[in-house]
Amino acid sequence: MYLRLLYISTADKDSKDPEKVQTLSDAAAERNRQNGLTGLLIFDGYRFMQYLEGEESMVRETYGRIKADKRHFAVVTLSEKFGEERQFEQWDMALRFTNDIAEVSAQMHKVMEQTRLIDVMTAADLQGFVERRVA
Ligand SMILES: Cc1cc2nc3c(=O)[nH]c(=O)nc-3n(C[C@H](O)[C@H](O)[C@H](O)COP(=O)(O)O)c2cc1C
Repeated sequence: MYLRLLYISTADKDSKDPEKVQTLSDAAAERNRQNGLTGLLIFDGYRFMQYLEGEESMVRETYGRIKADKRHFAVVTLSEKFGEERQFEQWDMALRFTNDIAEVSAQMHKVMEQTRLIDVMTAADLQGFVERRVA
């Protein structure tokens, strides 16, 4: 069983620079490769949304480090679910940048199409993020 965790957070004012976010994401991807984690990180210029999946103890350990990271704050867990299969098998941590809500929505759908394994619950979580941004 894999733990699938979804959270949102707000970037610290000194960490919104796209280059810094790219550096953060590259480091996260490297670390996730070592730890057998996969997922998706979306940054819209203001907030992060990250979907992280893998072996439960590794997801929890990593999430503990993420929550303590000063480059963002107001980390809110949106969902925690267990599943038999990974939803983002091919990505150690894909990064998507955008501050355009239509673009976020389009990318979400692309992601969902590309990862045909994505289940209804995960799709609903991701769609919920898009809708909260619109609101
Ligand atoms: C928005 C955000 C997402 C992150 N995602 C990951 C991640 O997926 N995997 C990871 O190992 N670290 C991630 N990190 C980095 C961790 O917070 C932490 O800096 C890193 O794991 C190194 O921890 P250490 O300095 O305690 O060794 C993320 C940080 C932020 C701010």
